[in-house]
Amino acid sequence: MSIELRQLTADDYPAWIRAKVSGFGFSIPESQIRRTPVELDRSLAAYDSGRIVGTINVHSFRMRIPGGWLPMGALAGVTVQPTHRRRGLMTRMMNRQLRDMHERGEPATGLYASESIIYGRFGYGMATFHESWAIDRLRTQLIPGDSGAGRVDFVSRSEASDLFPRVHEESLSRRVGTVHRRAARWELALGDPQDQGCRDATRLIHAAYRDGSSVEGYVIYRIRPRDLTVAVEELCGLNSRAQRALWQFCFGVDLITTIQARHRPLQDSLLWMLADPRHLKRSPCDSLWLRLVDAPAALSARRYASSGRLVLELEDASCPWNRGRFELEGGPDGATCRPTTGQPDLELTANELGAAYLGGVSFRTLSRAGRVHARNSKKLSEADAMFRVDVPPWCSEHF
Ligand SMILES: CC(C)(COP(=O)(O)OP(=O)(O)OC[C@H]1O[C@@H](n2cnc3c(N)ncnc32)[C@H](O)[C@@H]1OP(=O)(O)O)[C@@H](O)C(=O)NCCC(=O)NCCS
Repeated sequence: MSIELRQLTADDYPAWIRAKVSGFGFSIPESQIRRTPVELDRSLAAYDSGRIVGTINVHSFRMRIPGGWLPMGALAGVTVQPTHRRRGLMTRMMNRQLRDMHERGEPATGLYASESIIYGRFGYGMATFHESWAIDRLRTQLIPGDSGAGRVDFVSRSEASDLFPRVHEESLSRRVGTVHRRAARWELALGDPQDQGCRDATRLIHAAYRDGSSVEGYVIYRIRPRDLTVAVEELCGLNSRAQRALWQFCFGVDLITTIQARHRPLQDSLLWMLADPRHLKRSPCDSLWLRLVDAPAALSARRYASSGRLVLELEDASCPWNRGRFELEGGPDGATCRPTTGQPDLELTANELGAAYLGGVSFRTLSRAGRVHARNSKKLSEADAMFRVDVPPWCSEHF
C-alpha cells in the first residue's frame, strides 16, 4: 500500500475535516463544515488511492517564555483512520512536520495529547498543567473582600469581540506558557454567531466587569438547564476585584446547582477566596506538551531566574540535529547555548528538556523519577534555581 503525504488544498478541506473528525470517532453535519483557522501550507493529508486516511496540521503561534516570546509550531488534528492504524503513518506525518519546523527555524513545538502514551516517543514532555473545576452553588460563599465599585453587565458577541481581546492580552501575556490569540481564534472562543442554543445548553453568554469606563475582566459561559449547571468557558480578570466580582456573578445565577469551569490554571486565587474551599472539586490534567525543535536556540531565547552554567548531554531520537553536548550559560539578562566537549552536568532526552523548559517541573523531580541523570546534587539545585518561575506555567489556549 503506498500512501502519499500532500499539503492540504482548499478544495480538499471538506474531505480533510471529515477525515479528521471521524479519526476522533465523531461525525460532522455537512452544514457545519466551514473553514476553521487552519494554515493550508502547514496542513498535511495522507492519501490512499485518492481517499484521505491521515491528517495533521500546525498553527503558527507565539508562546510566552521568561523574558520574551518564542515562535511555536502548535501541532493539532493528528489522526489516522482506523483502517490504517499502527503501520507507522502518524510517525511519518510527525517526522515530516518536525523537519518542516526545523527548516522554518521554529525553535519549539507544542500539542495537547488525546492520550498521554502517544507523544513522549517524539520528544514531547508535559510542560504545563490545568484543572477542571466543579462546585456546588450552596458552597460558593467567598471570604469578605473588595469587589470594587465596578459592575458586571451582559455584552453582545460583537461588543465582546471589541472588548475582550485587550483584557485577555493584558492579563495573560505575562503568564509563561500561554500563547498569543489571533483574531481567527477569537471567533472560535466567542462562539458561533449563528448558535441560538438548544434545549440542553444555551449559546455562549458574554459578560464584562467594568470599573468606571474601563473593562477589567470578562466571563464567557453557557447554562445547561439539563443538569442545572453554569459552564464557564473562560473567566479572565486584570485584578482581584474583577476576578472576585466575576466569580460572584457566576455563583449568583439562580436555578443552578453546580458551577463548572474548564482549563483553569494551577494556583488560581479562587481557591483562596472561598470560605469553604474543600468543596471546589479540582481535577488536574496535563495541558501543553512541549518539544524543543532547536534546543540551543530555544535555551538561549529564554531568561533564567538566577545566573548559572550547565553542560547538558541531550539525546534526541526524532530531531537528531539536537543530539550532543551543550554549554548553557544564562541568567536574568540573557543566555547563550553552544556545543562543548566539557563534562556533562545533566544527561537527559528531549522529552525531559521540553517538560522542564518553562519551569513547570523541576529537574530534581525528573531525576527522582529516573528521567534525568545529574553529575551531583549541587548541579541539580543550580539547574532548578535557573529554570524556576514564580507562577506555574499555563497555556490558556486549547488547540
Ligand atoms: C494516535 C494515532 C494518530 C496513531 O496513529 P498510527 O498511525 O496508528 O501511529 P503509528 O503507527 O505511527 O504509531 C507509532 C507508535 O506509537 C504507538 N501508538 C500510537 N498510538 C497509540 C495509542 N493510541 N496507544 C498506544 N500506542 C500508540 C504505536 O503502537 C507505535 O508504537 P511502536 O513504534 O512501538 O510500534 C491514531 O491511533 C488515531 O488517529 N487515534 C485517534 C485520534 C487521536 O487520538 N489522535 C491523537 C490526537 S492528539
